[in-house]
Amino acid sequence: MGFYARFVLPRIIDVAMRNKDTTRLRAEWIPKATGNVLEVGIGSGLNLPYYSREVTQIFGVDPSPELLKLARARASAATHRVELITQSAEQPLPLESCSIDTAVMTWTLCSIPNPSRALEEIKRVLKPDGRLVFMEHGRAPGDQVARWQDRLTPIWKRIAGGCDLNRRIEAVIQGAGFRIAELKTFYLPGPRPMTFTYQGFGEIGSEDNVHEGNPAMTNRNREQF
Ligand SMILES: C[S@@+](CC[C@H](N)C(=O)[O-])C[C@H]1O[C@@H](n2cnc3c(N)ncnc32)[C@H](O)[C@@H]1O
Repeated sequence: MGFYARFVLPRIIDVAMRNKDTTRLRAEWIPKATGNVLEVGIGSGLNLPYYSREVTQIFGVDPSPELLKLARARASAATHRVELITQSAEQPLPLESCSIDTAVMTWTLCSIPNPSRALEEIKRVLKPDGRLVFMEHGRAPGDQVARWQDRLTPIWKRIAGGCDLNRRIEAVIQGAGFRIAELKTFYLPGPRPMTFTYQGFGEIGSEDNVHEGNPAMTNRNREQF
């Protein structure tokens, strides 16, 4: 990984992701999380101040050590117990099956190389009545904007940490076996190819959440606050 991706991009992400609109949406959506929370792609921890008292503890997963360095300061100031885990969500998570009440993903699914694999792992750790709380950007409905998203994605991926502009968020979530229980779509202010937003909840049925055994449980890459 080059200097830009390792040291410059995490700082750009931290600043870019705390604009007026993302902050408003975090304040609206993150309080929906309850119980044991898994936040996938926790980044610099910008959601941490918005978790409610209904949350017991938060496991934050992210492969970027630099972003987690920024998250650490926010985790120390948080009123909840926070555990940061440095790894990709595509790898087996060091969490028991059916142990998580809410999985949270905000502007993350676009950057995970194999989103279906990560969603499978999220499904494994979610309780049968657990919920996926998501806020993502993705493929726009109009042909004209979608065409621009297809054109821009190859270059955008290179400068924005692997971010795909044109992912069909709803289909990817459903394809992994979630039922979309609620969905709002809209544009945020800004360039249209980057701002088409999917805000919603996903759910799993109990019959969909049967697992064989646990992955290797490990304490590597885990730190508690
Ligand atoms: C645009 S940032 C959003 C960060 C944070 N969710 C927020 O709302 O500010 C995308 C995040 O996805 C994370 N990410 C990329 N690949 C990932 C993977 N395979 N598993 C988990 N997170 C990943 C990045 O490190 C980064 O923190």
